[in-house]
Amino acid sequence: MAKTTFRKSSVGKKVLMALTGFFLMFFLLQHLTINMLSVISPDMFNDVSHFMGTNPIVQIALQPVLMFAVIFHFIMGIVLDLQNRKARPVGYANNNAGANTSWMSRNMIISGLVILAFLVLHFIDFWIPEMNVKYIQGDMSGLLEPGVADSGYRYFEELQHKFVSPIRVGAYVIAFVLLALHLQHGFASAFQSVGARTNNNKTALQKFGNIFAFAVPLGFIAIALFHHFTYSH
Ligand code: HEM
Repeated sequence: MAKTTFRKSSVGKKVLMALTGFFLMFFLLQHLTINMLSVISPDMFNDVSHFMGTNPIVQIALQPVLMFAVIFHFIMGIVLDLQNRKARPVGYANNNAGANTSWMSRNMIISGLVILAFLVLHFIDFWIPEMNVKYIQGDMSGLLEPGVADSGYRYFEELQHKFVSPIRVGAYVIAFVLLALHLQHGFASAFQSVGARTNNNKTALQKFGNIFAFAVPLGFIAIALFHHFTYSH
């Protein structure tokens, strides 16, 4: 009985992990699309960044939902990992777990923690300065030089400046590689957890998952490298 209750609550947590995972994958796709604009057209990137950064629906409704999803996904991931470890008192090394679970599925917690560390750095780089300018200093204009209308928007300039340091670019690239591994297992696993993986779609889901898992981080790597090598002043 106790075992059944434990399993049920574990299934519930896995479904919630999957749902927040789907939401975060959708966020990643829109984040990549907007960031890609910084490579294609600085003006378009500036306009879209200003819209996203000042639109009340994005700022007051969507941004808190995103933050909640990120925190929830990480906390629940750690809880599930601890539960799994408890349920298997014999360590993996003695358990020949490799026979039926892939190396990556057992190490989702490690790739997850690397992504968490990346997010701390990323928030220090972009999100905190953005919150400071807009909501503490109260400058919602988005201008490079506040009060000087023809100075243009500041977003592209700020982004390029962040990718001057090879150390930061290196740290970002390492995190994006771990993101690829996390997504590669997470994509298929999320469909499995919500019961949407069947014998009919298993192979197609695996293929699509692999493409998503590598194309998205590769896109982020390309953006970081592009700005690193094209910054000219
Ligand atoms: C080269 C790659 C990337 C660049 C250039 C980039 C750029 C940015 C910028 C400029 C912001 C500030 C947006 C704002 O608040 O106005 C931001 C926020 C954010 N980024 Fe990234 N990002 C990259 C990769 C990633 C990745 C891989 C993740 C997730 C694993 C991520 C997660 C976030 C989150 C959660 C926020 C806060 C969202 C918000 O402000 O609503 N970013 N990023």
